[in-house]
Amino acid sequence: MRILYSIFVLGVVLALSGFAFIHSGVYNVTAMDEHSSLGKWALHTTMKNSVEARGSEVDVPSNLASEEMIRQGARGYDQLCVACHLKPGLEDTLLRQGLNPTPPSLTEAGAFGPGEQFWIIKNGIKMTGMPAWGVTHDDKDLWEITAFIQRLPSLSEAEYTRLVQPEPGVQAKADDGHDHDHGNMDGMMMMGESSQGESSHGAPGHHAMSGQDSASQSEASGHHSEKEPKAASEPKADDHYADGHSH
Ligand code: HEC
Repeated sequence: MRILYSIFVLGVVLALSGFAFIHSGVYNVTAMDEHSSLGKWALHTTMKNSVEARGSEVDVPSNLASEEMIRQGARGYDQLCVACHLKPGLEDTLLRQGLNPTPPSLTEAGAFGPGEQFWIIKNGIKMTGMPAWGVTHDDKDLWEITAFIQRLPSLSEAEYTRLVQPEPGVQAKADDGHDHDHGNMDGMMMMGESSQGESSHGAPGHHAMSGQDSASQSEASGHHSEKEPKAASEPKADDHYADGHSH
């Protein structure tokens, strides 16, 4: 009986300490500090096991390795993922440097299989910055991107560029098979970019990460140029976001 009573008191003390800790503000949530190695292990292992349990039940399409799937996924990856997950020839970005955990470079093969990767892309990972793309994109789009990231680790910079650029003669609108604008992450992309072909326009930072309520965008825009005159005439106060300088 005494033992049961002691266990009960201990439980209450632990619960109260936890409550006090949460309310005190003692824990520093800054993304600048590394987690402790125990914290890192606990978070990473929880994530890995959670993804494995769910990703192993996903049916992987048989045509995942087809050139058509990979080509369709290339532009989606280039527009949505590069700012965090890099591409051949790009060593870091403004956005990636400030994130904790640091998004892994998908130019190197990771431990997850295609079913698990698809699950992550669709569902996202809480409290990490990895978005749930299933909120805005259907499974077909996400399988194409999954197909592309299977190929990505073996691509050279030139092969990547060729896959991402629309083929000559193909209408730009049709090249990723989507009917909406993905949003422009240019402002997050500048650091370490080895070849920069499209920085000539006004103030790309204006569009960066704006969310682009894509689901409700019924007029198939896809034409950045339509917006450029407006962007260029606005004050360029935040241009420094676009060029990687910190002044
Ligand atoms: C804002 C940053 C951000 C963007 C944009 C982003 N991700 Fe992520 N992603 C992350 C972070 C951070 C992690 C690591 C989470 C962790 O370790 O718990 C991650 C993890 C992943 C993983 C698991 C990698 C591994 O092997 O551990 C995959 C696959 C992935 N992302 C795919 C994508 C794809 C595809 C896109 C674009 C459609 C994308 N991500 C866009 C931040 C991002």
